[in-house]
Amino acid sequence: MPSTSFLRGEVGLAVASPGLVHEFLDTNRRVVEETLQRILPLTSDDDGGVAESMRYTVLAPGKRIRPLILLAVADLYQAERSRVLPSACAVELVHACSLILDDLPCMDNAELRRGRPSNHRVHGEATAILAAFGLLNLAYGLVAGGASVPDTIRAAVARKLSEALGTLGLIGGQALDLGLAAPRLDLHELERIHSRKTGSLFIASVTIGARLAGAPENEEAALGAFAKNLGLAYQIVDDLLDASGDPSVTGKDARADRRGNFVTLAGLEGARRLTGELSECAMEHLTPLGQRAALLRGLALELSGRAR
Ligand code: IPE
Ligand code: IPE
Ligand code: MG
Ligand code: MG
Ligand code: MG
Repeated sequence: MPSTSFLRGEVGLAVASPGLVHEFLDTNRRVVEETLQRILPLTSDDDGGVAESMRYTVLAPGKRIRPLILLAVADLYQAERSRVLPSACAVELVHACSLILDDLPCMDNAELRRGRPSNHRVHGEATAILAAFGLLNLAYGLVAGGASVPDTIRAAVARKLSEALGTLGLIGGQALDLGLAAPRLDLHELERIHSRKTGSLFIASVTIGARLAGAPENEEAALGAFAKNLGLAYQIVDDLLDASGDPSVTGKDARADRRGNFVTLAGLEGARRLTGELSECAMEHLTPLGQRAALLRGLALELSGRAR
């Protein structure tokens, strides 16, 4: 066993050490960011400032977790970077789109995003909304343009993205989160909201990586179950940071959730316990992948431990 991993659980499955996880994240974040720089439209003086507004949010310092887990999954199957990077970037673009919309006055009315004033505060609401559409549009164009990927797989990737963003995914989750439907908020309802608004894009990222890389069906399913639990844990960590995080570190407003969140309902300790349980559950779903999934296990521990 390499010294960069440690063993965990009764069957001794490998987990990448924090050092190895950070090395993976830092190296690949640079690759993702260079690609994003390249694919975003250039600032222009005849588009009303939309390209500038798109670049403003995408190129601000984000963690790039969704494209990075997509790449980590693709690496399990030694997929060529050129085959998976366009879709990895597409996922980051739709995520950035959701952040611009989430911050609008009619949604969370947030002042700060990625350490900078939120998009609409700099570019105005109309331009921010058009930039969000611009990012969504660019994302689907990227998926469609992956020339080295067979048509059937490109179509499957587009469908996965579309389902993840749909009314049973991120869009529906955001609507429920804003209180546009359910009058009562309990833990069950909150889990449903979080699974949709955040979990669905995690599942899409991981299963898109698996599909592009040619993973066997049973492994794609196991990876999807891993991502479902990880996405939920990630959003609960985000709720913990909303309650007790420092905006100078998180780069966004604190206590911005309008309807309450997991911390409001379960308390700080309850929310922390849940993130631990969910990351354990996420890792259990990786058992069929054996020692190959060491990096994904390390990532799960890293992401669920962020609010400790
Ligand atoms: C923020 O996502 C919104 C959630 C769904 C939790 P991230 O915490 O991944 O934000 P960035 O991309 O790093 O800014
Ligand atoms: C929003 O959740 C999730 C999205 C789909 C953007 P939050 O409202 O908690 O996200 P932050 O905390 O503003 O990043
Ligand atoms: Mg919100
Ligand atoms: Mg918000
Ligand atoms: Mg939040």
